[in-house]
Amino acid sequence: MKLTATCGSALQAEAAIPGDKSCSHRALILGAMADGETRISGLLESADVMATARAVEAFGLRLDRGKVGEWKVRGGPWKSPSAAIDCGNSGTGARLLIGAVAGMPGVAATFVGDVSLSARPMRRVTAPLARMGAGMEGDDRLPITVRGRMLGGIDYRNAQASAQVKSAILLAGLGTDAPVQIVEPVPTRDHLEIMLARFGCPVSVDDRAEGWAISLGKDRLLSASEIAIGADPSSAAFPLVAAAIVPGSDVTATGVIVNPLRTRLYETLEAMGAEIELSNERIQSGEVLADIKLIHSPLRPCHVEARHVAAMIDEIPALAIACAFADGESLIEGLGELRVKESDRLGAILAGLTACGVPAAVDGDALRIFGKAKVRGGGRISTHGDHRIAMAFLTLGLASDEPVEVDEAEMIATSFPGFVEVMRSLGADIQ
Ligand code: S3P
Repeated sequence: MKLTATCGSALQAEAAIPGDKSCSHRALILGAMADGETRISGLLESADVMATARAVEAFGLRLDRGKVGEWKVRGGPWKSPSAAIDCGNSGTGARLLIGAVAGMPGVAATFVGDVSLSARPMRRVTAPLARMGAGMEGDDRLPITVRGRMLGGIDYRNAQASAQVKSAILLAGLGTDAPVQIVEPVPTRDHLEIMLARFGCPVSVDDRAEGWAISLGKDRLLSASEIAIGADPSSAAFPLVAAAIVPGSDVTATGVIVNPLRTRLYETLEAMGAEIELSNERIQSGEVLADIKLIHSPLRPCHVEARHVAAMIDEIPALAIACAFADGESLIEGLGELRVKESDRLGAILAGLTACGVPAAVDGDALRIFGKAKVRGGGRISTHGDHRIAMAFLTLGLASDEPVEVDEAEMIATSFPGFVEVMRSLGADIQ
């Protein structure tokens, strides 16, 4: 399916953003591992999260859906599924489930995924899990078969700054009494740690010279909890960047998770000159939420250092669009991980910007964008099946001289079902 975005009037209104993807996967998995019935609200019902929901059922656990986003999970012991677990497009689902199963003696499962997921590296999780003693068959790519065992402990340095790797190790560690510690030179999203505490398993964090040392506590039996999930800052990025580039716009995304390990995009946009206001701050299920309002102002270019990328790893496509409209040269460093996302995102961003008449260059792991307040647009964007590339370039088309067309727009349902409707509700012309 193709979609075209055309420049129109200013964007104004409140944007209703669906639940956070990272928290949704984690709530389902922890709910399935906990004793008793966990109630979840605000669950993101996207293709990725539904693949994890089906996986949980395939492991013999019961899920019930009430109103939109309201789910009950009856946790307990997992059984080996009768068929391979299909994680679809979801790296988070695959890597976290592999970790969870690795620490469950007697449970075995084979994990598969779509073409994109089958091309993504898995050794980053299977290697530390194997060090803990997990039974793994397969190499660096899916399919991978995991045979759960009683594991030993680990002290692991998370050099790639991957929250999925950290989370897989912590989930595996729930099945052992041995010490489990991950040291993060660059801290990554801590939603699992926050949620584990709510399920009765506190995780300690020690700020050391070599980075944050995250350790699983001794009490690792989970009891059911109630989790209300806030809106996804990675999805809010698109309507808010649209407001940052379409003159006259004023958009508010409500109830967004503003965990500091996720908000670097917003801090960067503010430094670029966007007017950003946070209001209605509150704590919900251990996460800080706020309404984020963005009012358009002319943008200045930015310089993002590598150490700040983890806190906006999924927002780089959206940031690149803001940079296209910022007068001057923007530099974003440390983007190597973008090569192994749902697509080679660094390559896809460069190709898309070039197709839209925005000069840009990749230099090693760094991206340079030579922006101007006026962008030609007019590109036909190959999204390579990547939801965030599709949303990023549709966003660009809302402010460029010529319309922008993207292919494989159906992949947007991976993370943001209802994206087109939300954007139209703000006044965007996307057909
Ligand atoms: C995620 C971690 C990040 C992010 C992904 C979700 C998570 O991946 O890109 O969309 O929920 O843990 P990495 O851990 O590979 O950086």
